[in-house]
Amino acid sequence: MKKSKLIIDKHDKNFFYGGKFGGNFIPETLKKPIDDLTVLFEKLRNNRNFIEQRDYYFKNYIGSPTPFIYLRNLSKFIGGAKIYAKVVSEANGGAHKIYNATVHCLIAKKSGKKYIVGDTGAGYAGKMLSMAAKKFGLKCKIFMGAKDIKRQKPNVKAMRENGAEIIPVTTGSQTLVDAVSECMRYWVSNCDSTAMCVGSTVGPNIFIKICAWSTSQISRELILQIKSEFGKIPKKLKLINCVGGGSSALGFWNEFINYDKNQIELIGVEAGGPRNSKLHAAPLTNNSKIGILHGAKQYVIQDKEGQIGKTESISAGLDYPGISPIHCYLKDIKRARYTAISDEDALEAFKLVSSLEKISPSLEPSHAFAEAIKIAPKLKKDNILIVNSCGDSLKDKDIIKKRLGHYSR
Ligand SMILES: Cc1ncc(COP(=O)(O)O)c(C=O)c1O
Repeated sequence: MKKSKLIIDKHDKNFFYGGKFGGNFIPETLKKPIDDLTVLFEKLRNNRNFIEQRDYYFKNYIGSPTPFIYLRNLSKFIGGAKIYAKVVSEANGGAHKIYNATVHCLIAKKSGKKYIVGDTGAGYAGKMLSMAAKKFGLKCKIFMGAKDIKRQKPNVKAMRENGAEIIPVTTGSQTLVDAVSECMRYWVSNCDSTAMCVGSTVGPNIFIKICAWSTSQISRELILQIKSEFGKIPKKLKLINCVGGGSSALGFWNEFINYDKNQIELIGVEAGGPRNSKLHAAPLTNNSKIGILHGAKQYVIQDKEGQIGKTESISAGLDYPGISPIHCYLKDIKRARYTAISDEDALEAFKLVSSLEKISPSLEPSHAFAEAIKIAPKLKKDNILIVNSCGDSLKDKDIIKKRLGHYSR
């Protein structure tokens, strides 16, 4: 069977993207479980029955394909380029994290594991893993920073209703970075009985691969939808996606990566943090140095001693000091452009999009919409901007209410 073409395969040089980013910086005890998972995944991704099973659940459980729509009112209001959205928030559970969670549960079943653990920041990765675990009969534990538990209540409630045990993480910044660390620590001692799902394209190489392979479904759908809408791939196209760990962007871009960058520009939008603060969660935009985080080499926010630096963002899903090694590579080779949007501009974008259109993006994709709103007026009408609306605002209703005085979809 023909192997799916993925950025992860094209640039994986012995676990390092461009020979420089990624790797497997893992404790000795994880070597065997990671090797076993690598062998199993390589086998499964080339197995016709497994692909059929994946496609069955993507269609009948997740609800693929998700809609691709023209944002007529927003485009008219802003002027310039036409703005479209790939509404991934219409996927079961409300975000792209369901693709990775479903695939991890399918793999866990194949390996005979009865338990699965995962990390979460915005709560979507945790909610989706709890949903998929329930569907496939696995017992589920989710590690979540105590700060995020307070700010993402609707997703916390959903995880509990799905029967997952939530382990509050009270170390460090009590956000995603600490949740991933604690989850990995737990897995070191429990890997015989338990599978681990890393919630983004971060961590040791195999987790980056599984996650990007899963979310690439988004661009497989999108390329067909674009051809159907325009009759061909437009000459001036920009694909705009928020980046935390980077999984939705890699899924959104995968099929387009080999196009000329003058035809298809890939724009990654990081969290710029509060407008008048030095704190942010934007390692690429701010030229952070290379460090090792969660088993992989990447650009990472750090202090002079190489200790992981403090981050700040209104959006729990983007509030992470590192970034997928694949994005580091795409930045280095200048295939993608990275920029940052402040908390305030993301809120404004949320307000505008949800008042003019029938979609209501969460604070993560609101960063991407803010960038689209910023650049559209400077571009001519024949430019097409597509934003990945990869999450629904419902999970952010408390934060939005507090900041804007009210919440309406
Ligand atoms: C809706 C949404 N978008 C984006 C992200 C950022 O993660 P990633 O960059 O892996 O897509 C998250 C993370 O939780 C999220 O929930």
